[in-house]
Order: sequence, then structure tokens, then C-alpha cells
Amino acid sequence: MARKILTVFGTRPEAIKLFPLVHTLEGDARFVSRVCVTGQHRGMLDQVLQIAGVAPDHDLDVMQPDQSLDALTARLLTGIGQVLDAERPDWVVVQGDTATAMCGALAAYYRKIRVAHVEAGLRSGHIYHPWPEEANRKIIGTMAHLHCAPTDTAADALRGENVDPATIHVTGNTVIDALHWVTARIRERPEIAGGLAQWETRFAGRRIIGVTSHRRENFGEGMQAIAGAIRRIAARDDVALIFPVHLNPHVRQVMQAELAGLDNVALIEPLDYPHFARLLDIATLMLTDSGGVQEEAPALGKPVLVMRETTERPEGIAAGTARLVGTDAARIVAETCRLLDDADAYAAMARAHNPFGDGTSAQRIVDLLAAG
Ligand code: UD1
Ligand code: UDP
Repeated sequence: MARKILTVFGTRPEAIKLFPLVHTLEGDARFVSRVCVTGQHRGMLDQVLQIAGVAPDHDLDVMQPDQSLDALTARLLTGIGQVLDAERPDWVVVQGDTATAMCGALAAYYRKIRVAHVEAGLRSGHIYHPWPEEANRKIIGTMAHLHCAPTDTAADALRGENVDPATIHVTGNTVIDALHWVTARIRERPEIAGGLAQWETRFAGRRIIGVTSHRRENFGEGMQAIAGAIRRIAARDDVALIFPVHLNPHVRQVMQAELAGLDNVALIEPLDYPHFARLLDIATLMLTDSGGVQEEAPALGKPVLVMRETTERPEGIAAGTARLVGTDAARIVAETCRLLDDADAYAAMARAHNPFGDGTSAQRIVDLLAAG
């Protein structure tokens, strides 16, 4: 009998990293695939569902403006629990370290339904960096029956926590599957990523710096410092910054107040995935505190300066494409200018590596679900 798999996700990065798995499950007669989206993100989730052609079977629509972690967690846990009672799947699949992923695993555990954790084993070693993600992924790790670690480093971290080695598998990260998929779609139909043309024309002759920022632990002082750094970098007349601003009000208020009106800073709405792939393509370098961007940039050979104090993705640093610069404005400015002004420093970072996978992770995970 076909196994029923319930894939649960709710935010933009989970959707990007799970649509390749949903596509693969849907094309495999060994499974009945069901999708539950929590709607932890609304607009940014829907952008991905639309591009990837994923039609959820359940949509909990939990997002509220400026949601608190505890109220969000309560809505997620009860909502996902009801879906599990209705569906009774053989496996629940969750991804990464969001509140949705943690509640999906917990609701499954409460019903003794097996949990597969995609992107298992990432650890910074510090429970407040990133916050609350480091704790979320550790909680999921204690309950999962299948740990799909993207890299050997992640698998080692799980073994170091005495997770049963037979349940740990190095699968690569499905973000590389997603990147290959979207790159192929753009090749077929370039117009799906054509919306940045106005900025490309306006900023012709300047080097483009792509920016994203949203980490909760950076709210307040950290966000102010990042905004201050961008303002100082924008004082150079040879650069332009394209910054799709996360919809979290704690990010938007600071960035609007500090950066609106600067000629060479495009504060724009979140980009859909094809357009963000285009931004990665045209950018000279990326400034980010995102997890996913730290994985995509090395695959594309794009230098990425990580505006965080620690990272759970040391592979990009080891490969030489990523560098931790923290949230001190002077350091961010200095490291950015070093890359802009020192061709050797730039060339040393601008080399493509694939520490996070080869684009076949979804198939590996699906085969593990079939065997488990
Ligand atoms: C969440 C995840 C984080 C992940 C990030 C990816 C948790 C605790 N945090 O953080 O791990 O890295 O997503 O982006 O799970 N909002 C909208 N529309 C949207 C999305 C967000 O308006 O499409 C606004 C809402 O006011 C919402 C707020 O942003 O309340 C915060 O969203 P939330 O998912 O709680 O936190 P993120 O900071 O996005
Ligand atoms: N991304 C996107 N549009 C944007 C910014 C990011 O599609 O405007 C994609 C990016 O390519 C990556 C993912 O969103 O795959 C990262 O999401 P985010 O930074 O919100 O979360 P994190 O990865 O830090 O959890």
C-alpha cells in the first residue's frame, strides 16, 4: 500500500526547500502526498507556492501581524494537530528550524507519527544565535526518526548528540535542487525574472550589492547598525544596493526610516524566487543574515558577507565564498569596501563550490522515506 506523507511548512525558506520534495513525492507511485501549509508567512509563502505550482491540501492561515513566538506556537500546534488527526499520515516531513517545523514535529510526536527532518543537524552551538532557531532544530532532532543532514558536518553534529547513527543520512540540501529548478525555468522563460530590468537600467555602470536581513536576534541595535552600514556603503558612487525588504515590521520600519530616498538604494518588496535568483546573478556581492542565501551564494560563486556573529553553515566559510562580518557597522563597511577595492580579495571569494549538495537531494530523501 502507498505510504502517506504529510509535508508541513509555513515560511518562505521552508517552501523553497520543500517544493522539490513535494514535486518528487507527487511523481512517485509509492506515496500518497499531502501538503499542509501553516501560513506562518502569508505573502512570502504564497509567492513560492505559485511559482512552484504547489496546491496545499490544508492551509491553516495562522499569520497575524507582528506575531509573538508563544501565540504563534500555540496556533501552530493546535492547528497542525487537527490536520494530523484527519490525515493520519505514515510520515510527517518538516524542514529546518522555524516555529512551523518545531510544532509540526511536536504534534507528530504527540501522536507517535514518525518525523522526517530535512536539513537536520545544523548547529551554531549558541542557543541565542540564531534565536529561536537553534533551540527549534535541537528540539526537532530529539523527536525525528529520519535525519536528513545536508552535509557531513551536520551529520557529525547529530552523532555528537548521540542520535542513533542508523537514522542519520547525508542527503545534501534541497535548496540546491530548488536553485537548479528555478534556473532551468528562467532559461526557458527569461521574462519570469525580468522585473529587475528597471533597476538594472537605472544602476547601469555601478556594481550591484544585494542585501537581505531579517533575523530576530538582530532586531533593535543590530538592525540599526546594518541600516547604518548600508547608508555608508551607499555614499560610494560606484555601487548601488538592491534590498528586497522582509515583511516583518521590525525590519521594514528601521530600513524605511534610515534608507528611504537614497538614490542608489532600491528598497523593494520581497522578490519571488526567480527574481531573487536574478538578483544573485547580477550582484557583485551579497550582504545578508539569511540562512538560505548562505547556501545559494557559494553554489553560484557569489561572495557573501554574513551579518551575524556565528553561523551554523561553516561550509560556505570553509569554501571561501562566505565571510562572517557580524553586525558592527564599521566592520560591515570595511569588509564590503575590501571586496570592492581589492581585486585579489574579491577573486579569492568569487569561486563556485557546492558544499551544500548536487541538486539530487529530494530524490535521496524520498528513497529514504520509501525504505523507512
Ligand atoms: C521566520 C522564522 C525564521 C525564518 C524566517 C524566514 C520562526 C520563529 N522564525 O521569521 O526562522 O528564518 O521566517 O524569513 O519561525 N510577515 C508578513 N508577511 C509575510 C511574512 C511575514 O506580513 O509573508 C510579517 C508579519 O507581521 C509577521 C512577521 O512578519 O507577524 C513575522 O513573521 P514570523 O514568521 O513570525 O517571523 P520571521 O521573522 O519572518
Ligand atoms: N528569497 C526570495 N526573495 C527574497 C529574499 C530571499 O525568494 O526577496 C529566498 C532566497 O533565495 C532563499 C530564501 O528566500 O532561498 C531565504 O529566506 P529567508 O532569508 O527569509 O530565510 P532563512 O533562509 O534565513 O531562514
